[in-house]
Amino acid sequence: MSEKKLPNHLAIILDGNGRWAKKRNLPRLMGHRAGFRKLDNIARLVLKRGIRYFSVYAFSTENWNRPEMEVAGLMSIFRFYIRKKVYELKSLGVRLRFCGRKDRIPEDLLKLMQWGEDFTKDEKNLDFVICLNYGGRAEIIDAVNELIKSGAKTPVTEEDLRKYFYLPDVPDPDLIIRTSGELRLSNFWLWESAYSEFYFTDIHWPDFDEAELDKALENYAGRDRRYGGLKK
Ligand code: IPE
Ligand code: IPE
Ligand code: MG
Repeated sequence: MSEKKLPNHLAIILDGNGRWAKKRNLPRLMGHRAGFRKLDNIARLVLKRGIRYFSVYAFSTENWNRPEMEVAGLMSIFRFYIRKKVYELKSLGVRLRFCGRKDRIPEDLLKLMQWGEDFTKDEKNLDFVICLNYGGRAEIIDAVNELIKSGAKTPVTEEDLRKYFYLPDVPDPDLIIRTSGELRLSNFWLWESAYSEFYFTDIHWPDFDEAELDKALENYAGRDRRYGGLKK
């Protein structure tokens, strides 16, 4: 595969943990645990492939509507993951970042997130972005409010607004993968996905593997991105 055709920013909507567990007669939280183990594995492969930005949709602003036990379980998995993985990520040159609203996240988890970000902030091999309590609409609204507060003069430009996004320095996703068969964005990277390529697979996230990743990357390499212009 030619290096040039790799996405600079790969994004994945981690979907299907619940269905994976159900198929095995396991509680949904076991699916989420398996999903996070898989995430660790795929992040390493993404790093190895030489991709510079990797973002994953781990918890949406709408996921608070799930049963309290599932939400609490997910928060614990995030805690566990950060505590367990941050040293390793740093040793691999990975910068861990979180993207989303800070409200509603338990205080101790917020502190862990901040610690993970600070601890890895100088790493430059890969920016690994976990979208947690993220919603595309929330991000746009938050940016609009910040822009108004800044006293910006009208007419504002796209660039003016972008400055107030959660991670303004992260380039738009080139390729967005969604696992588990659903053909929708579910409020992920709304603004940023304007010209993203999409790849959908029926595989549940915990079953996603190296072969699947390479299939998606191969497929992306064959796409013709025109951005409204004409074929080169
Ligand atoms: C994705 O798996 C993980 C989160 C949304 C937190 P799901 O929990 O949505 O799994 P399904 O869609 O019910 O199978
Ligand atoms: C999208 O998955 C959100 C995450 C993967 C974090 P959902 O399972 O929440 O999406 P819907 O409800 O099927 O649209
Ligand atoms: Mg789902």
